[in-house]
Amino acid sequence: MTPDLLEEGARRVETHAALVSGLNNTESGGRNASTGRIATPGEVDVTHGRILYLEDVSVSFDGFKAINKLSLDIAPGELRCIIGPNGAGKTTMMDIITGKTRPDEGTVFFGSTIDLLRHKEAEIAQLGIGRKFQKPTVFEQLTVFENLELALKTHKGVKASMFFRLDSAQSDRLAEMLVTIHLAGSVNRLAGNLSHGQKQWLEIGMLLMQDPKLLLLDEPVAGMTDEETSRTAELFLTLKGKHSLMVVEHDMSFIRTISEIVTVLCDGSVLAQGTLDQVQADERVIEVYLGR
Ligand SMILES: Nc1ncnc2c1ncn2[C@@H]1O[C@H](COP(=O)(O)OP(=O)(O)OP(=O)(O)O)[C@@H](O)[C@H]1O
Ligand SMILES: [Mg+2]
Repeated sequence: MTPDLLEEGARRVETHAALVSGLNNTESGGRNASTGRIATPGEVDVTHGRILYLEDVSVSFDGFKAINKLSLDIAPGELRCIIGPNGAGKTTMMDIITGKTRPDEGTVFFGSTIDLLRHKEAEIAQLGIGRKFQKPTVFEQLTVFENLELALKTHKGVKASMFFRLDSAQSDRLAEMLVTIHLAGSVNRLAGNLSHGQKQWLEIGMLLMQDPKLLLLDEPVAGMTDEETSRTAELFLTLKGKHSLMVVEHDMSFIRTISEIVTVLCDGSVLAQGTLDQVQADERVIEVYLGR
């Protein structure tokens, strides 16, 4: 969840009772459309074939090198899978990309012109990098619909307003999103009553409402049932191409279903990269990870 969204959500939960009556009127669509206008997200220059580029990135915590000369790049529309043992630095890498952690050295670019190390966490979210943490973070006291509406409302360029109403294009988008994330039948349920997997889908939907160019997903299927996991795989395959995705997972059958290129991180840098079959056959990978 983005910092803006967290802040707005906290405000929204406080004023929930007042909002519920307003939310029941959303079918009227076009009213107050001007308050719901979405700003066009800024362009990211991908003419060099990379949406994300890390070079020689390092960070130490109390003398321990969690990330060690890490270099990696991702093509626009790619779905990149990242695997590696516990403590390899996968989450820390996402912390660096999203501005949560500052590296000690190295280069981190979004497209070929945006130096992410010059931007704060909230700005990076606004630039179009969405992030899903391991634990689902949805607003449990709000309905599925309200959570998605909130994500739209706090999108870049939309001023937070108690009187926000969806216009018809936004209503259509929200309805499509409900289908995409398999929650069309749960639109009025409180997010707190959803299953773990459904909460994960809802949070992914909330991120997608903000139309990120790059989506970072940290262990999205951890704790999901097999059925939820396979539906999540389907979902990610439909997102590929429209968004660039970086997915960290330990679930190898999930990785097998969705992956093209797999990057193996170990001790804070890239140990191997290739198709899943290639990296699974790599002796070094077997030794540090798969052979456990
Ligand atoms: N803020 C921090 N302060 C101190 N040490 C940290 C911090 N963040 C991460 N680390 C350490 O850096 C190393 C990398 O951690 P990280 O969470 O990135 O691993 P990971 O690959 O995501 O592992 P997992 O698969 O278990 O989620 C670990 O040894 C961790 O303890
Ligand atoms: Mg992690």
